[in-house]
Amino acid sequence: DLLQEIKRLEDLFTVDTAKLKAIVEHFISELAKGLSVEGGSIPMNPTWCMGFPTGNETGTFLALDMGGTNLRVCEINLPEEKGEFDIIQSKYRLPEDLKTGTADELWAYIADCLQQFIEYHHEGEKLDKLPLGFTFSYPRWTKGFDIEGVEGKDVVPPFEAALEERGVPIKLTALINDTTGTLIASSYTDSEMKIGCIFGTGCNAAYMEHFSEIPKLAHMKVDPNQEIAINCEWGAFDNEHKILPRTQYDVIIDKDSPRPGQQSFEKMIAGLYLGELFRLVLVDLHEQPHVKIFEGQDVAALKKPYSLDASFLSDVESDPFENLQETHDTFHTKLNIKCTKPELELIRRLAELIGTRSARLSACGVAAICKKKGYKTAHVGADGSVFNKYPHFKARGAQALKEILDWDKGRDGKPLGRGHDPVEILPAEDGSGVGAALIAALTLKRVQEGN
Ligand code: BG6
Ligand code: GLC
Repeated sequence: DLLQEIKRLEDLFTVDTAKLKAIVEHFISELAKGLSVEGGSIPMNPTWCMGFPTGNETGTFLALDMGGTNLRVCEINLPEEKGEFDIIQSKYRLPEDLKTGTADELWAYIADCLQQFIEYHHEGEKLDKLPLGFTFSYPRWTKGFDIEGVEGKDVVPPFEAALEERGVPIKLTALINDTTGTLIASSYTDSEMKIGCIFGTGCNAAYMEHFSEIPKLAHMKVDPNQEIAINCEWGAFDNEHKILPRTQYDVIIDKDSPRPGQQSFEKMIAGLYLGELFRLVLVDLHEQPHVKIFEGQDVAALKKPYSLDASFLSDVESDPFENLQETHDTFHTKLNIKCTKPELELIRRLAELIGTRSARLSACGVAAICKKKGYKTAHVGADGSVFNKYPHFKARGAQALKEILDWDKGRDGKPLGRGHDPVEILPAEDGSGVGAALIAALTLKRVQEGN
């Protein structure tokens, strides 16, 4: 009976408050371990972005953003006075086959996009080389990319060579991560911003750390009070499988991925994997003889790996009809499956469970940084398709933060009102545009000053 299956799935995918708290405690120690000399599984990469912008950064910069779903080129004018930025931008599709092609093809495609952008927006102009901030959010290949000969190498020389070959008038000035861009861009307009997060195809965060807390950089003899942005790469949290409540489906996702054993946390929460988790559960239920689901239906389409993306799941979650008419129609048109009412109810509940687990586990990372830094209050700037588009993601994350940080108990015993949570996750400024430009400006200044 499907009700019984729903109950089993609820037990499997629900992460209760006690478990959230235990995950956060382990997360805090793993963040510190990543900063230590011996290191841990969370990389905690120093970004060499030293502190926040002052607001006096000016000039024209290009920003190139190779994120999860798009390739974007922006031209940003940082104004004389802190205020509205001037941005023009073009989006280019990142062809799927490029993700598993050759390195040369990738750099050639990106250089062509930049060339097109410049030719279109500066036709006939004589240009000095424009400084470029490149948001390349891949310290190693993640999010389905698998191109040989790039990992472990400096990506700057081949990229510059591709630009050179085409005579594109650009000087690569800074290479940044999307989370660092998000942190810097958001802090420019909101001084309470402490953490930049991406909840998208992948999941990660950056925050400012003091050199005194970074033993692995002690040999550099920098003032211990100096701050530097750390790109956590927290997707790698719990690669050793000590604490996260992995299910058999998470194990399959990992095993069948291009990089098994890596990005354990990310594989349980990020957009790239949500639809696949959902699909794996449905296929598994269908294959169990005692579970009567999709009986007599052709499930060939459902059996195709990665055929359902996170937007499929968000459509199921946002079906406004009580009889789940839209979900019924989507299953019919996209998967050639005609669902019964109990099946639709299971499908909806499963989507909720997967979406909720993602938001609650994501909140653990945010809480861990806040607790590590001793922040009692903080704004967190967030970007990415899951944060911006997945139904209820924000509210579920906020609820989990409340449970972890015990706000419901309130100091005066009264519940805290919505909108006044001590730690709030807010939509970020465009980190990979404005943030990349600001970081390029900061870098140019630092180089000019010889630091
Ligand atoms: C975009 C940022 O808005 O969000 C990118 O500009 C970032 O830099 C991306 O990588 C993450 O979201 P997604 O959903 O595209 O992975
Ligand atoms: C992956 C990448 C990381 C990026 C995140 C969000 O985790 O490794 O660098 O910040 O996705 O895009």
